[in-house]
Amino acid sequence: MAKKVAFVTGAAQGIGKAIAQRLVHDGFAVAVADFNLEGAQQTATELKQNGQAIAIKVDVSKRDQVFAAIDKTVTELGDLNVVVNNAGVGPTTPIDTITPEQFEKVYSINVGGVYWGIQAAKKAFQKLGHGGKIINASSQAGHVGNPNLALYSGTKFAVRGVTQTAARDLAPLGITVNAYCPGIVKTPMMMDIAHQVGQEAGKDDEWGMQQFSQNIALGRLSEPEDVAACVAYLAGPDSNYMTGQALLIDGGMVF
Ligand code: NAI
Repeated sequence: MAKKVAFVTGAAQGIGKAIAQRLVHDGFAVAVADFNLEGAQQTATELKQNGQAIAIKVDVSKRDQVFAAIDKTVTELGDLNVVVNNAGVGPTTPIDTITPEQFEKVYSINVGGVYWGIQAAKKAFQKLGHGGKIINASSQAGHVGNPNLALYSGTKFAVRGVTQTAARDLAPLGITVNAYCPGIVKTPMMMDIAHQVGQEAGKDDEWGMQQFSQNIALGRLSEPEDVAACVAYLAGPDSNYMTGQALLIDGGMVF
């Protein structure tokens, strides 16, 4: 099989890092793209022990940076087959305290980053003369409301809408567009939220984390690798006949 190339945003840590690790394991050359260049370089160095990887600095909320990062991926890795728009931020905010600045920041990263990733991927796939797969990060919070998550939740519902529409727009070009919807994953993002929940209750981070597992049918929080395995399926040939879908990987929270 010819070498496949994947571009993964937010891959310095958390779910994005686990996706990059899994895709290298599956034989992809991977561009580790992140706002945090030092973290991306660290991840790429680790990945190079098992395959091919490069680190790229990108702010996904900036359209020109996303196009430049994807161009660099094609130049340095020779092709592009999969784009994973994973980078996101997840603050908890009571609805009446959301500020215009928070709104601008969270929407420009979580939704803007997905638009720019789709546009840049389409341009690259067309230039390369083949189709490809675009995979976007939504969430279980993109399916149901959660307390104090109106800002975040709105962005993740939006990602499902963009995914469904882009899937129809790009299907004639041989491009599939799907989303993945994690539940509660043990990453630095969730650790921050658990810390906040614990502090507010006068308890520790572990207590904060345990509060989230109460509504999970499988009775445990998700590891980043649980999500990465499903993203690998969306990135691989076994999902070729799927597009416009939002795959829930939440241990049984939303069904
Ligand atoms: P994380 O906070 O642990 O990692 C996010 C990564 O994205 C970091 O490396 C950060 O530097 C990077 N990043 C942030 N803003 C960026 C920007 N403007 N440009 C480029 N990179 C940027 O987050 P985590 O938990 O790994 O989440 C990854 C994705 O999964 C996000 O879209 C998140 O909303 C989604 N998700 C996470 C869940 C969880 O429980 N952790 C649940 C559902 C969805």
